[in-house]
Amino acid sequence: MSTERPGDTVCECFDISRDDVYAIWRKQPTVAAVEKAFGCGRDCGNCVPRLHSLLKFFLLEQASGRKARRN
Ligand code: FES
Repeated sequence: MSTERPGDTVCECFDISRDDVYAIWRKQPTVAAVEKAFGCGRDCGNCVPRLHSLLKFFLLEQASGRKARRN
């Protein structure tokens, strides 16, 4: 039985997970940084819109985390 949760794989072509992407975004939160690091988007390209949506979520998560720590 797989322990992988739905949505864990962001780029199927290069087998890149959300954790892989987040590790890059903690240093440089751009889709281009992920494309450069892993090659995402250079095969079928299906992950590119997913990366843009995930980046918005990541940035919101970061912003709300920072706000919560200030209060
Ligand atoms: S899913 Fe990322 S290039 Fe195909």
